[in-house]
Amino acid sequence: MKENQLIITEDGSHTLFVADLNEHYHSIHGAVTESMHVFIEAGLKPLLEKKKNINVLEIGIGTGLNAALVLLEAENNDAIINYVGAEPYPLSLSLVSQLNYFSIYGGVQMHKAVMNIHSCNRNLPVEIGNHFIMNYLEAPIQNIDLKDSYFDLVFFDAFSPTTQPELWTAEIFAKIFKAMKPNGVLVTYVAKGEVRRTMKACGFTIEKLTGFAGKREMTRANKPSTSTE
Ligand SMILES: C[S@@+](CC[C@H](N)C(=O)[O-])C[C@H]1O[C@@H](n2cnc3c(N)ncnc32)[C@H](O)[C@@H]1O
Repeated sequence: MKENQLIITEDGSHTLFVADLNEHYHSIHGAVTESMHVFIEAGLKPLLEKKKNINVLEIGIGTGLNAALVLLEAENNDAIINYVGAEPYPLSLSLVSQLNYFSIYGGVQMHKAVMNIHSCNRNLPVEIGNHFIMNYLEAPIQNIDLKDSYFDLVFFDAFSPTTQPELWTAEIFAKIFKAMKPNGVLVTYVAKGEVRRTMKACGFTIEKLTGFAGKREMTRANKPSTSTE
């Protein structure tokens, strides 16, 4: 296996290129800007307007960028966020310490957030400051037992359906649907018709939102309030 390569994206922030998969962790048009667009603006912020106690599930912690942005939002909004993330391939601390997200967004607070997320003990909840509890599960989502009706928000940030078709399946979406609260929301950068049809078949209602950087669409999937699953 080749080493992940650090790449500078168009907004100046880093992403990683995985040569073995020929895929980047984020859009090359801007890693921080894409995460803000897809996960924070379309996912977290509308929820924060309604509640201050939020359970988040992320599929693919990767560099910890999404988690760190959520930690900062939690602090800035005086919210309490319980963040559960699945990641079978954790990055080394030496690689994480080179990530430059803090120079694009959040300064010292952002740097501390990224380092703390990767340094905390795995597979148990760890408080990082007063507003954020990290539960870094070092395992593939397929192997993780999720509590029923627990998550308010899901960040589905796996590699693309072409690269990782085994994660964009009815089996996985049904498992996540069950783990979400009624009115829970899932956001992903993917807009593929086949993925949306699979989500719909599992009970989600689908919203088509404007995608990041010239991508026509992204997806927000909602668990209906009437769902009994
Ligand atoms: C597109 S990258 C995610 C980027 C990440 N959210 C970030 O902010 O840096 C996809 C991530 O999914 C992880 N992954 C691969 N297989 C997985 C699985 N079966 N379950 C959960 N995560 C997986 C990869 O190791 C990688 O970190």
